[in-house]
Amino acid sequence: MKLIFLLLSLLVNPYGREALSLNGNWSAILDPSDVGEGKRLYTDARPAGRDDFVEYSYDGALSLDVPGDWNHQDPQLRWYEGTVWYARHFQAERRAGHRRILYFAGVSQRCDVYLNGDRVAVHEGSFTPFQADVTDRLADGDNFLAVRVDNRRRPDAIPALRFDWWNYGGITRDVLLLDVPERHIADYFFRLAPGVPDRILAEITLSVAEAGQPVTVSIPGLKVRQTLMTDADGVARGSFRLKGLRRWQPLRPFLYAVTVSSGTDTVTERIGFRDIAVDGTKILVNGEPTFLKCISFHEEIPMEQRRACSPEDAEVLVGAAVGLGCNAIRLAHYPQNEYIVRLAEEKGLLVWEEIPLWQGIDFTSEETWHKAETYLREMIGRDRNRCAIGFWSISNETRPGPERDAFLTRLLALGRSLDGSRLFTSAFDVAYYRPEADEFRMEDGFAGQLDVIGINKYMGWYAPWPKPAAELRWNVFPDKPLVISEFGCEARAGVYGDADTASSWSEDYQAALYRDNLVMFGNIPNLAGVSPWVLYDFLSPFRQHPVNQGFFNRKGVLSDRGERKKAWYVMNEYYNER
Ligand code: GCU
Repeated sequence: MKLIFLLLSLLVNPYGREALSLNGNWSAILDPSDVGEGKRLYTDARPAGRDDFVEYSYDGALSLDVPGDWNHQDPQLRWYEGTVWYARHFQAERRAGHRRILYFAGVSQRCDVYLNGDRVAVHEGSFTPFQADVTDRLADGDNFLAVRVDNRRRPDAIPALRFDWWNYGGITRDVLLLDVPERHIADYFFRLAPGVPDRILAEITLSVAEAGQPVTVSIPGLKVRQTLMTDADGVARGSFRLKGLRRWQPLRPFLYAVTVSSGTDTVTERIGFRDIAVDGTKILVNGEPTFLKCISFHEEIPMEQRRACSPEDAEVLVGAAVGLGCNAIRLAHYPQNEYIVRLAEEKGLLVWEEIPLWQGIDFTSEETWHKAETYLREMIGRDRNRCAIGFWSISNETRPGPERDAFLTRLLALGRSLDGSRLFTSAFDVAYYRPEADEFRMEDGFAGQLDVIGINKYMGWYAPWPKPAAELRWNVFPDKPLVISEFGCEARAGVYGDADTASSWSEDYQAALYRDNLVMFGNIPNLAGVSPWVLYDFLSPFRQHPVNQGFFNRKGVLSDRGERKKAWYVMNEYYNER
């Protein structure tokens, strides 16, 4: 029951509902000392009487576009880490028999949401959606919406105090006022029955926990039309034998129109069906061994130094992965916006999606556990109908140890209880070359529980070559599929020569390093895929070299201006030949 209730907190398919978009131009007031709550910045107060004292005004305040990070919208905000109050008015009318749901696709990092002076939502986590039922607080006519946004880094947060990407702040994704019938379709999960050919499982949850409510599932492309009945929890379960199912395949995508209707509500969206499994050291998609020709990228448009937040932005990122010759993408290091996930699905790219449990996590904190649990539930709750997602990753470069092993074991068990239809993985940077054994090995008390092992390894950059690449052997979880989830080095676009000098920051050194790594990877017996780090140069406070970096991490195969570096051609050739 708890699980169903928690998943109910995310209305399924918000973009497929009747909605008023609250995107656009909002007023904003910086609040670096956090005095805003005391000053009641959640109201649009104006001086009424002669001796009224109101020490703020949204009229004449800063203006910020939503969706979008604040960093790129005003020079004073590029580095700002603190609180900003966003506010706007909007017109609405109350509708009897309807619920009105305020939906935020993402706010970075934590926020308090106020409607007409009442706090209606609190959320932490930059990269997952949240919502609030505001039916009873919506006014006929003018409404005032205020959002206190705080992007300060914290030791018990996820990610914690330091992370190798820009600490963007703001209402970085869409804001919608959804309109659903009182009795509505709250959630559904469609997937192929694992290991059973051509049978679809469906679980549909209505907003009212009551038995005997009819729910009809229609998939015209499969001649499926069946009415199910809900149980006492308001959940209807069904399975449909199929004839002539066309499965979603990497690079050969196929999606069906699926319509769910209850007595009062109807929702339609395009859903694909595929099977993903592990067989020994192979990743099977629809029973076919599939090598991941992957690339990692951040949710950032480097050319404009800002968060990606639109369908056009998704095309810049996903389109570049297709152009490189990929059949998969790793969304580093957090759930990225739905436009990116849905475009990957339309283009037939398998997706590795992860929660930002990235280095430096405090595994002893129960607060951190709650945040990790919430992140995993919200990521899976949002995207579990996206067949492109093959992998849920629950951590990146965490250090082995009793607290960390126990934390990740608990998190993996939660993940498997939420979704048994996908593979679970993590990325590790603890595979080391052992001279005494003359091979790469990895000791880790947790990793063996995963379906797929991700290894981040920067040979030739953070670690010198102990011997020629072709002579290096790997013995890392030899009975499981191993994906090189990161490799590469930095290079400044347009700098050439010195192919044997790391500190040259040249494209030639980067290309040579890629070639050497690909030779070494060819000797990994259980290699199931590679994902170079990274598609585009991206902003990071870690990267301070004034000439070579300028606060860009320059490991991109594409520069921050979208120029192809020589390493891009090395990967493109490697992928086209596989
Ligand atoms: C790490 C980490 C990345 C980081 C990269 C780098 O492996 O996962 O987030 O950007 O290395 O050092 O460039």
